[in-house]
Amino acid sequence: MEALRIIKDEHRNLWRIAVTLDQVIGEMERNQKADPAFLGSVLDYFEHFMDGCHHRKEDDYLFRLLRQRSPDAGALLDRLQAEHRNAPHNLAALRQQLAETVAGRSSVGELIEALRLYLDDQKAHIKAEEKDIYPLASQVLTAEDWAEIDKAFLDNDDPLFGKAARAEYRELYHKVANLAPVSVGLGASSAGELQSATAALPAADLLLKVDHLESCYGRIKALKGISLEVRRGETVALVGANGAGKTTFLRTLSGVQPMSAGSITFDGEDISKVRSDMRMRRGICQSPEGRQVFGPLSIEDNLRLGAYTQPKGQVEGDLEKIYTMFPILKEKRKLPAGTLSGGQQQMLAIGRALMGRPKLLLLDEPSMGLAPLLVEEVFNVVKTLKTQGMTIILAEQNAFSALAIADRGYVLETGNITLTGSGRELIADEQVRAAYLGM
Ligand SMILES: Nc1ncnc2c1ncn2[C@@H]1O[C@H](COP(=O)(O)OP(=O)(O)OP(=O)(O)O)[C@@H](O)[C@H]1O
Ligand SMILES: [Mg+2]
Repeated sequence: MEALRIIKDEHRNLWRIAVTLDQVIGEMERNQKADPAFLGSVLDYFEHFMDGCHHRKEDDYLFRLLRQRSPDAGALLDRLQAEHRNAPHNLAALRQQLAETVAGRSSVGELIEALRLYLDDQKAHIKAEEKDIYPLASQVLTAEDWAEIDKAFLDNDDPLFGKAARAEYRELYHKVANLAPVSVGLGASSAGELQSATAALPAADLLLKVDHLESCYGRIKALKGISLEVRRGETVALVGANGAGKTTFLRTLSGVQPMSAGSITFDGEDISKVRSDMRMRRGICQSPEGRQVFGPLSIEDNLRLGAYTQPKGQVEGDLEKIYTMFPILKEKRKLPAGTLSGGQQQMLAIGRALMGRPKLLLLDEPSMGLAPLLVEEVFNVVKTLKTQGMTIILAEQNAFSALAIADRGYVLETGNITLTGSGRELIADEQVRAAYLGM
């Protein structure tokens, strides 16, 4: 039922955009102005992603099989599929309305009304699917049905569902996040601290202290003043939606992404101006987003690369330690890294970071793109490292799993930290549950 997880994730992102759009409509009402770039990119997102991709795969696989297994569901499926069919037409009308308003031929009020109607329809549609269709599908579809559906949803070479479509969708989502007004977060909007204990930390316990860190891509400010602390031995989760700035933050910490303001103190020293290779030498090691193993190089050579800042004498011993931790890497050590499965490549990426003898290990979405069982395995690895005393920052969209093993967490939203607390407190927080845990 991997497909259901994918669909629900997609709904969650759609819902976040809908909530953001709701808030923007509120602002439009107050100042009687429309932002064509933001609204245009939201409509692009709906067109490419929802109408072009999400609806089609539901129609072609899930709904088709559900019709066969549950004739009673026919009427509801008819309705939902009619909505799928009408969606492009409704969207085109909305674009037309936007153009008319921008050209001054129609009022902002009319655009607001059209947007509201459209959003209400979208939300009702998502709710009907979540409330009626998926529970039914979980009951009546057979294992073979799910195999067919899951295969279609997980096919990485399919231009509609595969990697390219997801990359395009992420990019669109990032664009919407970038253009959204500052006052509107994509997700929880409550700023605050659930726990103030960090203020009283003895300085010696602090491994990392980040103050008002900013970082930009050209004119886009991706980090808008991040402050956080990590104690020795702590596992700190950094959670947030697509485009929140998790990757940018980790890359700024390791020094591969420049910072434009603020400071980073590591192990008692200000390292803000220290080059990335020297930061690695001091013990900041990163397992990057998307793993980025060197496919043609052997697994062992990939691991050796992780130790390039380390004294030669310790490398063989460290390799053995990594092999003990990940026997599969030892078994395949002579093979090109590209031959490993996604989960194994993730182990390799973590192993490579460990070869740098980290004092602070940065893990960027280690669970990304992995099947549920493998996700669990990856989080088990993180747990093991934690029990061994490693200090870890774990950036994850998979907020629940990350917060569940973290001592503390920070919620990141469009470049700002909006909430912090212990992992348990954040999991219990209503806003976090609604925005990130889908509950
Ligand atoms: N190379 C780049 N050029 C321009 N903008 C970028 C670049 N990389 C990221 N951004 C923007 O910076 C913001 C933060 O992106 P970042 O990748 O750090 O987020 P993230 O939280 O890691 O998201 P994801 O969960 O998708 O990995 C986004 O708005 C994104 O569009
Ligand atoms: Mg990222």
